[in-house]
Amino acid sequence: MLWPVFMVWCTAFSQRAVHAVRPNIILFLADDLGWNDVGFHGSNDVSTPNIDALAYSGLVLQNYYVTPICTPSRAALMTGKYPIHTGMQHGVIYGAEPRGLPLTEKILPQYLKDLGYKTHLIGKWHLGSYKREYLPLNRGFDSHVGFWTGRIDMYDHTSMEHGSWGFDFRRGFKVAHDSFGRYATDVYTNEAIKVIKGHNASEPLFLMVSHSAVHSGNPYEPLRAPESEVEKFKHISDPKRQKFAAVLSKMDESIGKVVDSLHTQAMLENSIVIFSTDNGGPAAGFNDNAASNYPLKGVKNTLWEGGVRGAGVLWSPLLEKKSRVAAQRMHIVDWLPTVYSAAGGDISAFQNIDGIDQWHSLSKDEKSSRTSLLHNIDDVWASAALTVDQWKIHKGTNYNGAWDFWYGPDERSGVYNVSRVCDGYAGKVVQKLGFMPDGDKIFELRNTATLKCNSSIEAIPCQPLQAPCLFNIEEDPCEKRNLAEQEPEILQKLLEELNKVNKTAIPQNSKPIEPKGDPKNWGRIYTNFGDFDSKHASSVCL
Ligand SMILES: *[C@@H]1O[C@H](CO)[C@@H](O)[C@H](O)[C@H]1NC(C)=O
Ligand SMILES: *[C@@H]1O[C@H](CO)[C@@H](O)[C@H](O)[C@H]1NC(C)=O
Ligand SMILES: *[C@@H]1O[C@H](CO)[C@@H](O)[C@H](O)[C@H]1NC(C)=O
Ligand SMILES: *[C@@H]1O[C@H](CO)[C@@H](O)[C@H](O)[C@H]1NC(C)=O
Repeated sequence: MLWPVFMVWCTAFSQRAVHAVRPNIILFLADDLGWNDVGFHGSNDVSTPNIDALAYSGLVLQNYYVTPICTPSRAALMTGKYPIHTGMQHGVIYGAEPRGLPLTEKILPQYLKDLGYKTHLIGKWHLGSYKREYLPLNRGFDSHVGFWTGRIDMYDHTSMEHGSWGFDFRRGFKVAHDSFGRYATDVYTNEAIKVIKGHNASEPLFLMVSHSAVHSGNPYEPLRAPESEVEKFKHISDPKRQKFAAVLSKMDESIGKVVDSLHTQAMLENSIVIFSTDNGGPAAGFNDNAASNYPLKGVKNTLWEGGVRGAGVLWSPLLEKKSRVAAQRMHIVDWLPTVYSAAGGDISAFQNIDGIDQWHSLSKDEKSSRTSLLHNIDDVWASAALTVDQWKIHKGTNYNGAWDFWYGPDERSGVYNVSRVCDGYAGKVVQKLGFMPDGDKIFELRNTATLKCNSSIEAIPCQPLQAPCLFNIEEDPCEKRNLAEQEPEILQKLLEELNKVNKTAIPQNSKPIEPKGDPKNWGRIYTNFGDFDSKHASSVCL
């Protein structure tokens, strides 16, 4: 008697599975956020209760790596390829630079469109804007609200570069004059909620919110947040760090509101939420900023762990083993195949990428198949770094070694208020879904995710401009003990590996600034100067 009933249930289930909508993919990209700028890594001065709630109920990506700087990292994220394989390995794209991510590259939103996704970009692009064909709407995004260059002032939405300046905020191809004066993070929050509310839930959604925070703005006032937000961080004595915390807190609130909106629209349960920084933090005044990579060495745009080990979280009800500090080694190039695979796509669609599908190892907590990581090879700086198994080699360094140190703040003192995690926008909905672990578990996860340098390790200096350095990154994540002399064979092996990888590099493609691209020629607006045509004026600019 039971058998036919079972059959019926089974059929019903498989029919449901066939019609199930692919998971929504929500990607929050923070700009210039450091390792020690999230509560879940042990920081007590800043406040990120919404990101923390996702971390504790999802996966803290503890061995997650990005590239050292913005454009290369975004290129890696979009293409699944190391920047040396797209020519994007040296530095950022400037608004007046005639360059973009090569059009021969098929990118993440285009792959997701093949699977039926609706694709939306909110916030920063920074992969080329001198010609229309490089812009987000011509590269797989159905909509874009945000900016094209590397950073904007949070209120006036202008960008200062190379002694010039221009307004940089768009709604698709059109200049979004109406955004002037509105706090950029709030603009993104409202746009994201609008996209979610307007989305047809029987189709899958790819929403990328690419934040301005916590990148510094223009030199006249690099770190801007509403006064009421800055007031909340009076306990931070360094005024720059206080403002930084306010900018960060606004981004955290935005993420919480977007997650809450996904829940309201009944989309959260079938969503994969990714949080990632694009590169390590600009600490100690680097780029006029006040991030912290404590206890890691170096800053943004260096190949030390502080420049490349990224704050990252993966959250989804679809993960089998949740609420853990994931040891799986992962690189930002892995997101493309990982997301595609999680969406039910066949990863044989990818040819010649460097990314590895990590979905099953992350979901089931199985060993990552990634053993090696290329951090970058940049022949302009003459620097390179590579990790194989537990070993990391540095050849050369950036800025002539000026940023090869350890910077704070550490801020391990003070109290971590778990109620704030539970009471935040994200915390509340995560609790409603039944995924929030209890307080003890939260402290246990946080403790595991709080990196400590091993103080018994004997420091051996590294002079990368004189000779390559070698570190055991598992025992010595703080890069204090240079083992190049003790382990000549391993050093040799890694040098050979670096040479091998270097042979696959294509030349870097950065170009001199073009005077024509100066926004002073275009009514103080950053524009697609390479093919601007007055016939298109109504749809492009001015
Ligand atoms: C929503 O999407 C489904 C599947 O593509 C489609 O059949 C339906 O017509 C759409 N609804 C609206 C209101 O557009
Ligand atoms: C902790 O956060 C809650 C809000 O979630 C607040 O009511 C409480 O006062 C905070 N406790 C401390 C010690 O700051
Ligand atoms: C710290 O380093 C010492 C010396 O290399 C080693 O014996 C010890 O096991 C390390 N401790 C931890 C917790 O890794
Ligand atoms: C990579 O190869 C180029 C020549 O093609 C060379 O100039 C450069 O020094 C090499 N870089 C490294 C890190 O070996």
